[in-house]
Amino acid sequence: MAEKLWGGRFSEETDKFVEEFTESVSFDKELAVYDINGSIAHARMLGKQGIISEDEAEKIINGLEEIKKEILEGTFSWKTELEDVHMNIEKALIEKIGSVGGKLHTGRSRNDQVATAFRLYLKEETKNIINLLKELKKALLEKAKESIDIVLPGYTHLQRAQPIRLAHYFLAYIEIYHRDEERFSDTLKRVDQMPLGSGALAGVDFPIDRKMTSEELGFKQVMRNSLDATASRDVIIEFLSDSAVCMSNLSRQAEDLIIWNSTEFSFVELPDKLTTGSSIMPQKKNPDVLELIRGKTGRVYGSLVALLTVVKGLPMAYNRDLQEDKEPVFDAVRTLKGSLIGMRKIIEGLKPNKEVMEKAAGGFSLATDLANYLVRKGLPFRDAHHVVGQIVGYLSNQKRELETITLEELKRFSDLFDEDAVQILSPYYVADARKSFGGTAKEQILNQIKYWEEELK
Ligand code: ARG
Repeated sequence: MAEKLWGGRFSEETDKFVEEFTESVSFDKELAVYDINGSIAHARMLGKQGIISEDEAEKIINGLEEIKKEILEGTFSWKTELEDVHMNIEKALIEKIGSVGGKLHTGRSRNDQVATAFRLYLKEETKNIINLLKELKKALLEKAKESIDIVLPGYTHLQRAQPIRLAHYFLAYIEIYHRDEERFSDTLKRVDQMPLGSGALAGVDFPIDRKMTSEELGFKQVMRNSLDATASRDVIIEFLSDSAVCMSNLSRQAEDLIIWNSTEFSFVELPDKLTTGSSIMPQKKNPDVLELIRGKTGRVYGSLVALLTVVKGLPMAYNRDLQEDKEPVFDAVRTLKGSLIGMRKIIEGLKPNKEVMEKAAGGFSLATDLANYLVRKGLPFRDAHHVVGQIVGYLSNQKRELETITLEELKRFSDLFDEDAVQILSPYYVADARKSFGGTAKEQILNQIKYWEEELK
């Protein structure tokens, strides 16, 4: 049984249940390296300020480096009865270098210590997520370039609406993931602020140098208020909110691709290596990666709601409830990173089925353009809408597609139709008519591709 670092005022042993209920080391050991880096910066500052001797600081730093190595090599032994990552490391330090190790915690509390370690962790993971978003955007750009000359129906209400170029779809998702990236970058500014040196809540009664520790740890800024620095978790909530929004976008795209991959649609094919089989139905090739991106979105939303709920009734300043901020974040980070990698692999491996998409893009999806033809000839849009509605009804009754109509038949519905009306009835023609900025015409798509090629260089 390891003796507790705070054992002084207690006369009986902690109940086993309490130890197990309150411990966090089983999960917060994920912060170990960040905690040690924070401690090293703190010790160096204590030495430089003469709060401990330079020699003592050096012993502490060397001891911490050795412990870091043991942790990374997996030989460190974690003890539940030592509660959390911080006290496990501090206790190991004292065992390693003797009582001088007990000087590390001078002018510091676990409250500013944990807030610092968590922010260091979050900074790194936010950067990792931003990089994964960049890679996903690049994969989408490559697919867009390969699919400029493929048209498919664009859908509203999951009903065929108007033809679009497939590249237009991929470019839309670049915009979406780009905004996700911007959100994370913006949050990073607020993550990049150092709580260390705030003590338990009120600041520190030793001549510490917070600017020094902040520079040493690579923080942009020192947090101005010690109560805020130890008690607030809004930045972490913001990170979870960014993650939840990003998962919602991934989930929506996953849904598109799941539908497109169904036998009924057959718009795309997923590579074998990214799909899985059924244990009972030999014909099946399931889009499990996409389904799990969609399915795991729920747990990230859950993480956001969990932490919002944890903080909502907390009095100033630190409360132990705040220990509950870790697991939701660790889980969200793991889930989001996995989903971003999964989606990139799917995009890279995706094979569009040009013939099927093209065929689906024709037919009544071209109806709006036939109506607009009449508008250009002077008919009010409402009347044109009515005329084309009649044409659609006429052809549907005969189970015919729009492309099969002849000029002679068109003239029966309106004498404004001329020879050039028939040429409209191609999805490529119709897509390329949408030349407005941001539209699906080839020239607009080439502009968008050029824009992202510059941006993603
Ligand atoms: N494990 C704790 C946490 O994650 C560390 C801070 C504990 N502070 C305290 N005063 N008990 O929040």
